[in-house]
Amino acid sequence: MAENTALLQVINLRKYFPIVSGMFSRQAGAVRAVDGISFDIKRGETLGMVGESGCGKSTAGRAILHLHKPTGGQVIFEGRDLTAMSGEELRLLRPKMQMIFQDPYATLNPRHSVKKIVGEPLIIHGLMKKGSGELNDRVAELLELVGMDPAYMRRFPHEFSGGQRQRIGIARALSLNPDFIVCDEPISALDVSIQAQVVNLMQDLQEQLGVAYLFIAHDLSMVKHISHRIVVMYLGKVMELAERNTLFDDPLHPYTQSLNSAVPTPNPKVERARQRFILEGDPPSPANPPSGCVFHTRCPLAVAACMTDEPEFREIHPGHFVACHLADEKGGSKIEVVSTR
Ligand SMILES: Nc1ncnc2c1ncn2[C@@H]1O[C@H](COP(=O)(O)OP(=O)(O)OP(=O)(O)O)[C@@H](O)[C@H]1O
Ligand SMILES: [Mg+2]
Repeated sequence: MAENTALLQVINLRKYFPIVSGMFSRQAGAVRAVDGISFDIKRGETLGMVGESGCGKSTAGRAILHLHKPTGGQVIFEGRDLTAMSGEELRLLRPKMQMIFQDPYATLNPRHSVKKIVGEPLIIHGLMKKGSGELNDRVAELLELVGMDPAYMRRFPHEFSGGQRQRIGIARALSLNPDFIVCDEPISALDVSIQAQVVNLMQDLQEQLGVAYLFIAHDLSMVKHISHRIVVMYLGKVMELAERNTLFDDPLHPYTQSLNSAVPTPNPKVERARQRFILEGDPPSPANPPSGCVFHTRCPLAVAACMTDEPEFREIHPGHFVACHLADEKGGSKIEVVSTR
């Protein structure tokens, strides 16, 4: 037990949405939004999750929290199997697992004061009484924690900028002292200048409180600074998982290499030498995924086996997992871009 420091284990998790059609609402297949993903998240860790739109990131986050009931697989949180829990058991565990969302404009009730928004979870879970001095103190403390003036508690969401609204969302998510927060693209809707502030705040809060994050984003540049490890998803599956620096310096999956080649670097010399490998087309539909490796239809390295056999998600180096037939210890899945100059 002692070496198992995982806060959360996701084991072969699946979430399919049925496609219904016709007068009798017959099920005509399923959207395989999340199709057998496995990883763990350690206490106080940030696991970045990236992938193109529609690859199943939000569904994965929701299925982990059981906001969507998984179709299959398991989620073990603090040693307890969420998939085997009753609704009441899950409700009691809910405070430990929270979620923050992309669009603070849409997710904060415009008619509620900041005090009501931030304090509501404490009232709902019966921890504090509405109108109590205790609740007032806790909301003030939470606002200070996220760098806001406690006097703002009497104001309303429209009085704040996007970055401040995201701080309010973070204060609400922290109100119940969670151990884990799914952060679903929390900075994507913010101005670039504000993104770094919110990321820094989230990092400071993690250091102070020891909370773990699953930090979801579209591209690698957004998760680069905050993540300890990064998981790359494509069409409902995990393609690669590694420590942050390993994923940037030595990506083994051709898909990760394509995402990585799109991240600009501040060093002009490195930037000039950067070989861009741009993926063409859109990902296939998760209602009708390709056979074999789901990435084979867009992979520049695909061989016959990729069309028929699904690659195993395996550990190539300690802590570095990849699902690619061509990947080996020597990096056999590296794309060689031949310079045309
Ligand atoms: N409630 C739902 N019912 C049916 N299909 C759904 C539902 N939610 C998501 N999907 C489908 O599941 C797939 C994955 O969607 P999801 O929102 O998880 O992707 P995502 O990676 O978060 O995308 P984005 O980057 O655009 O937020 C998509 O094909 C989507 O259309
Ligand atoms: Mg999403």
